[in-house]
Amino acid sequence: MKVFNVAIMGLGTVGGGAYRILTENHDEIMRNHGVDVRVKRVLDLRTERFAQFGVPEGVGTTLVDDVINDREIDAVIEVMGGIEPALTFILRALKSGKNVISANKELIAKKWPAIDAAARENGVGFYHEASCVGGVPVIRVLNESFQGDKLESVKGIINGTTNYILSKMSFDGTSYDEALRQAQKLGYAEADPTADVEGFDAAYKLSILSSLAFKTCIPYSCISREGITGVTQEEIGYAKQMGYSIKLLAIGSKEGDKVEARVHPTAVKNTHPLAVVNDEFNAVMLRGDNVGNVMLYGKGAGAQPTGSAIVSDVVYCAKRSTPLYPPFNNDGKIDENIEFVTDPYSNYFVVLSVKRGDADDILNVFAGDDRLLKEYKYDMKTETLLMVTKHMAQSAIEAVLRSVKDKAGVKMFRKAVC
Ligand code: HSE
Repeated sequence: MKVFNVAIMGLGTVGGGAYRILTENHDEIMRNHGVDVRVKRVLDLRTERFAQFGVPEGVGTTLVDDVINDREIDAVIEVMGGIEPALTFILRALKSGKNVISANKELIAKKWPAIDAAARENGVGFYHEASCVGGVPVIRVLNESFQGDKLESVKGIINGTTNYILSKMSFDGTSYDEALRQAQKLGYAEADPTADVEGFDAAYKLSILSSLAFKTCIPYSCISREGITGVTQEEIGYAKQMGYSIKLLAIGSKEGDKVEARVHPTAVKNTHPLAVVNDEFNAVMLRGDNVGNVMLYGKGAGAQPTGSAIVSDVVYCAKRSTPLYPPFNNDGKIDENIEFVTDPYSNYFVVLSVKRGDADDILNVFAGDDRLLKEYKYDMKTETLLMVTKHMAQSAIEAVLRSVKDKAGVKMFRKAVC
């Protein structure tokens, strides 16, 4: 039986989840997969955590050299988060001939080329299933499926914290602050939840997922990003009136050499499969030119789902005879043919305040010849016009709104998915 020794760097929420699964499921993993995975070291400065998680004496350490210099360790699991010292520790581990498994999406989005180069130079693997969409095996699918397809889009809800907050605000009327507190307590949010609520976390993940899907470097810096801090109960109410839900969507698409990559709150029609993805659940829709849409769904955050993804990488790594590397030139540079779209094509959810006397005129502009609108509703009592536009360039709808600004005040303007 192959013995595979691992070290865990960081005994936080995800590290703790991975440690629990590796120890509690040790025998089952051995029986099912023929690998005897042993946690040889756990690195953390918060030594009180060793006892909390039942880490045996001699396994817990505060010294990274105890991990790096141990030649018997086959793989290091980096679950510390952040850039430093995680990057230095990962590079040292790779250079000392150890495989690395990481959940660190920020680090991968910002430093993947250096990590990938070090892994290749040293003939070891770098695996990161847990970096995107928690327990949902989307990286494995992107790496190992769709051989018959060119992937055209990656669209999804890929941050558990914001989806939890928006779900609570929408279904229970919970305030934003209270819902965020709950998400933090449940272990969904990042150490600094700004990364979640401002959309950084989703943008890191979209950079990783779309690079793998489109097989070209989609740098994090090219992703347009808006978080959920501007989403109000009022907007959620308008969306409900039209049968929509507000979700933080990450959308990547590639048509020829034109690429769009964006993260923003979106009004999603309730008949769309992404509209029913609630709480900490995530879902990713991948569209291939032959297969059409494929959707993956599951828990996107939390100790056990993310720990499960780590453990799956451990076993995957242990069983591979050669390392797996990303299927594109991962040098951090944008392919010279790629053009990033700055004027996105989308449906738009627009709410205007329009006096009763002006309603006909305004409706004529938008719906007169059925040019712009998919659906609309005019609420006479509140003098509010709710509309969902057809698919169009953002600059086009903005120009129309400018042309009616004297008679129509914009109360809500969001991209929509129907
Ligand atoms: N903070 C992240 C989220 C954790 O809420 O999705 C999982 O990546």
